[in-house]
Amino acid sequence: MTPNPLRSTTPQIAASILSADFRNLAREIDDVLRGGSDFLHLDVMDGHFVPNISFGPPIIKATRAATNAYLDAHLMIMEPARYAPAIVKAGAQNVTFHVEVVTDAAQAAREIRKVSNHVGISLNPATPVERIFPALDHVDVVLIMSVVPGFSGQSFMPEVLAKCEAVRRRLRPDQRLEIDGGINADTVRSAKSAGVDWFVAASAIFDQKDRGAAIAALRRGLE
Ligand code: DX5
Ligand code: ZN
Repeated sequence: MTPNPLRSTTPQIAASILSADFRNLAREIDDVLRGGSDFLHLDVMDGHFVPNISFGPPIIKATRAATNAYLDAHLMIMEPARYAPAIVKAGAQNVTFHVEVVTDAAQAAREIRKVSNHVGISLNPATPVERIFPALDHVDVVLIMSVVPGFSGQSFMPEVLAKCEAVRRRLRPDQRLEIDGGINADTVRSAKSAGVDWFVAASAIFDQKDRGAAIAALRRGLE
C-alpha cells in the first residue's frame, strides 16, 4: 500500500530524483527511501515552460516499479491536463501543475482531479501569489517554487517566504504547503517557520555520498 502523506501533519521530506544517477535508478530510489526520505518528487520538464527537458511517463513507470512510495509529480509543462492521465497511469499519486500555463486555474485543477486522486498547484518566484487563490478550494497541495524552475542545484530565494505565509493563512487543515528549490539543512528552517509542510530536495540529498546523513541533517533543521 502506498502511504498517503496528505494524512500526515508532520513535516515530510521528498527526494527529487532529478539529481539521481539514472544509470542506477532503482538503487538510487532505494538508497534515499531507506535513508529516510518520506516520498519521491518527480520533475517533469518539457523544454517549453522551462528551458530543460527531464523525463516523462517511462521514468515514472520505472520509479513505480522500483517502490511503493508516494510519487509526487511536478509538471513543468504546457498543457498539464492533457498529459495528466499518462502521468497517473505511469504511477503518480499527486499531479501538480503550474498556474502560469493555464487560463483558468480552478478549471485546470478540476480537470486534473478527474484522473488524479491528488492535485497540486505551483507558482514561479516571479508569479504573484494572488494568481493561485481562485484555485485553492480545488487543490490538495500548493507548491511554492523557491528557485526559477528548470534545474536542480540553484540557490534558495528567501523572498518567496512571504508567499508561503500568505498561502498558509488560506489553507484548510487538510491541505499541504510544499516548497521546492534550494532546500538544504539551513534553508529548511526558514521554510518551516513560514508554514511549509513538505520539503523537496534534489541536490541536498542526491549530491551527497551518505544520503541517510543528508536526510538526517535536513530533518534536524526541522526540529
Ligand atoms: C527545479 C525542480 C526541483 C529541483 C530541486 O526546477 O522543480 O524539484 O529538482 O533541486 P534542488 O533541491 O537541488 O534545488
Ligand atoms: Zn520540482
